Amino acid sequence: MENRPQWGTRAGFILAAIGSAVGLGNIWRFPAVAYDNGGGAFFVPYLFALLTAGIPLLILEFTLGHKYRGSAPLTYARLNKKFEWLGWWQVAISFVISTYYAVIIAWAMSYAVFSINQKWGDAPKDFLYGDYLQLPATAGSAGGIVPGVFIPLLLVWMITMGVLLKGVKRGIEIANKFMIPTLVILFLVIVLRAVTLDGASEGLDAFFKPDWGSIADPKVWVAAYGQIFFSLSIGFAIMITYSSYLPKKTDLTNSAFITGFANSGFELLAGIGVFSALGFMAVQQGIPVDKVVSEGVGLAFVVFPQIINEFPAFNGLFGVVFFACLTLAGLTSLISIVETYVAAVQEKFKLTRTKAVLAGGGASAVISVLFATKGGLYFLDAADYFINQFGVALAGLVEVVVIAWVLRELKGLETHANSISDMMVGSSWRFFLGGVTPLILGYMMFQNILTNIKVNYGDYPIEFLAYAGWGVAAAALVAGFLLMAVKWDRKLIAFPSKKE
Ligand code: PHE
Ligand code: NA
Repeated sequence: MENRPQWGTRAGFILAAIGSAVGLGNIWRFPAVAYDNGGGAFFVPYLFALLTAGIPLLILEFTLGHKYRGSAPLTYARLNKKFEWLGWWQVAISFVISTYYAVIIAWAMSYAVFSINQKWGDAPKDFLYGDYLQLPATAGSAGGIVPGVFIPLLLVWMITMGVLLKGVKRGIEIANKFMIPTLVILFLVIVLRAVTLDGASEGLDAFFKPDWGSIADPKVWVAAYGQIFFSLSIGFAIMITYSSYLPKKTDLTNSAFITGFANSGFELLAGIGVFSALGFMAVQQGIPVDKVVSEGVGLAFVVFPQIINEFPAFNGLFGVVFFACLTLAGLTSLISIVETYVAAVQEKFKLTRTKAVLAGGGASAVISVLFATKGGLYFLDAADYFINQFGVALAGLVEVVVIAWVLRELKGLETHANSISDMMVGSSWRFFLGGVTPLILGYMMFQNILTNIKVNYGDYPIEFLAYAGWGVAAAALVAGFLLMAVKWDRKLIAFPSKKE
């Protein structure tokens, strides 16, 4: 592996890791999750989850990638041949996510353009589901391609594959060095404008008002762990892949703290900006703040257009900047997630980088067109929910159980991390990863499965969820085992080689 690509600078690696972490989850998921789970009081379970699970797992994934220097499947195969499937499973999950994540970025791009003259008119909701997405009344059929989504989708794939074709240092690193500072500046503009709007303080009061009773509710802790996992891109194979491009001598633990705190800082900022804007709109329309809180597609593509409509001045500009932020945050995450399978197929099938990008990115791009059809939103919604619940979170749980309990590798990884990092990890790191985290995640998974068996997600018919939800999540795991059946080049697995 003498010619494995490497990051040019430590800052480049950290920016790329932050670029992956900071995504739509920060902007449209965190504010609503915090609000629904105790407001100001949510910060207690949230910080607990960050410090005992989020950052320890980031350190674990950074150390795995750095020590074994491979894509996720190669890393797990080198750790122990029996567990290669875990790497492929995570890569397959990432593949699924990338197919629809690209489509959401395409919507954001369209909306940046629509913002200029508020093309959505007085009824942004009807515009989104009717004029723009042309959504049919029931789930299950694709319908024709929607050109308004398809065209920006092509652009998203051209940018992403263009960056990846250029490689790690000249592609991913440079793209993040440009996109992340731009994102931070644009987002600060949005937040500063939002907090100075009339009604901002009402919104912030609603967001930060602590409901201390909620801390006793297990559901709130589950929400905090779920948010931290998704938000830090843990269990997606991403951080393993990115850290496999680190030079031999580098710091791991400190980088994990920086990445973790930067991501949470961005979430807090998003919470402040989003709730200030919601407070403004509530005051304009004379309704309470809790009536306008929303997350996901509804927040970004319905509520924000409403806010933009109400704006005192420069409506178009505010809209363009807001949707540009979504686009940038999304692109840096998409780049990271596509890199997981580009790296994996490149190593396993001994392809050139160009071929791996064209094959991996191309396959995802083709499948993503399904979500750019008229019925695409239903497929997207079901796939997103199930792949997160029974993909990312479950693979993260299996990852800690395998490493801490089955292979008992924590001690060895601790030694590796400490031999190169400024900051030492020790028995508390092993205790959090081997004790607290698997128990809480295990409980969470158990509850989740029960809930989803009892109640069909989103009121969709079970026939639809069977393939578009459960089926997609199961297919990722099956793909993991199938890909493991392909044999590695022996020389690649023999590791660590003396020569390196
Ligand atoms: N961490 C990302 C977020 O908060 C999640 C993500 C990463 C999604 C990479 C897709 C790809 O949005
Ligand atoms: Na995030």
